[in-house]
Amino acid sequence: MYSIVVKKYGSPDVLEYVETVSKKITNNSVRIKVHSVGVNFADILTIKGRYQERPRPPFSPGLEVSGEILEVGNSVSNHKIGDTVIAIMKFGGYQSEVVVPAENTYNLPKSMPLDIAAGFPVTYGTAYSALVSKAKIKKNEICLVLGATGGVGVATIEIAKALGCKVIACGGDDDKLKGCIKVGANHVINYKNNILKNELKRLNIKEVNVIIDMVGGQVSLNAIKSLSWNGRIIIVGFASGVIPDIPANRLLLKNASADGLYWGELAYRTPNQIKKDFLDLFHLYEKKLISPVNHKIFRLKDASDALNYLLARKNIGKLILKS
Ligand SMILES: NC(=O)c1ccc[n+]([C@@H]2O[C@H](COP(=O)([O-])OP(=O)(O)OC[C@H]3O[C@@H](n4cnc5c(N)ncnc54)[C@H](OP(=O)(O)O)[C@@H]3O)[C@@H](O)[C@H]2O)c1
Repeated sequence: MYSIVVKKYGSPDVLEYVETVSKKITNNSVRIKVHSVGVNFADILTIKGRYQERPRPPFSPGLEVSGEILEVGNSVSNHKIGDTVIAIMKFGGYQSEVVVPAENTYNLPKSMPLDIAAGFPVTYGTAYSALVSKAKIKKNEICLVLGATGGVGVATIEIAKALGCKVIACGGDDDKLKGCIKVGANHVINYKNNILKNELKRLNIKEVNVIIDMVGGQVSLNAIKSLSWNGRIIIVGFASGVIPDIPANRLLLKNASADGLYWGELAYRTPNQIKKDFLDLFHLYEKKLISPVNHKIFRLKDASDALNYLLARKNIGKLILKS
């Protein structure tokens, strides 16, 4: 088998592609022949040693894979050899074979191809938890998505639309924002070149009910000013690199709430809830209410190119590594 390995924290260029040996399986685990791996912004932070999870080198990054089960542990009853699955992990996905707990492995619907499935868990799982479990978003509410052009952003647009909401997609690049219209956004706003409040006014939108925030920094602070009565902002990430100091008075005046989501940890703490969420998402997929696509596929051995592509902000939606 082959692994992408970080021997020393650093930029994506530190990654090495090496031949390694298979791990031993435990009673509650499954062995998966990896077909494809999802690439996430968090991988860049993990490789730098700057993510919440800080594995000690040498380690392989990677939060999600798709593939086929090769072997099941003695106590595993919900999976069998040959099942096609997705699996989530805290790190270790950038490999041609993985051993993961059975409870973090989910059977796929037959209609979902493995290269699409690899990019599905983190982006769609996070977006669904943010919109449904955290914001409890309702039909006809207005949802403002910050960082709408990224992997989580595109998934958020699609799910919010499928739930009957009006979606305003915000990002920093006009060409990428055109892609947000294609996946269902009602309006797009470029927050790099324009003042958010003025743009909302131009769209005749006074207030928004829900903000899903992948960006942080000044953009978040500007967006919070437009929250409605009982509004909710869900903090998902800080792609801008700046953690905003949310003014409590803004929340008080609107009877509003700010809530954080750490989906990776939630998925480990509540695997049964996540399983239920995935079943809901697969249902939306089969009804064609969400249509995940990959922006670009790289080979596993070219993982550093994929991460540099993500760092250069060239992607609209998801990047994948093929094992
Ligand atoms: N809390 C959780 O459980 C969880 C789960 C998944 C992801 N996340 C976090 O959510 C964020 C987005 O993840 P992703 O996978 O969607 O990443 P991605 O595909 O790389 O997308 C990043 C998004 O952020 C914007 N962005 C990037 N750099 C920026 C900057 N310097 N200033 C302003 N905007 C910037 C990009 O917009 P433009 O290039 O169009 O401007 C793009 O829309 C990351 O911070 C990630 O760590 C958190």
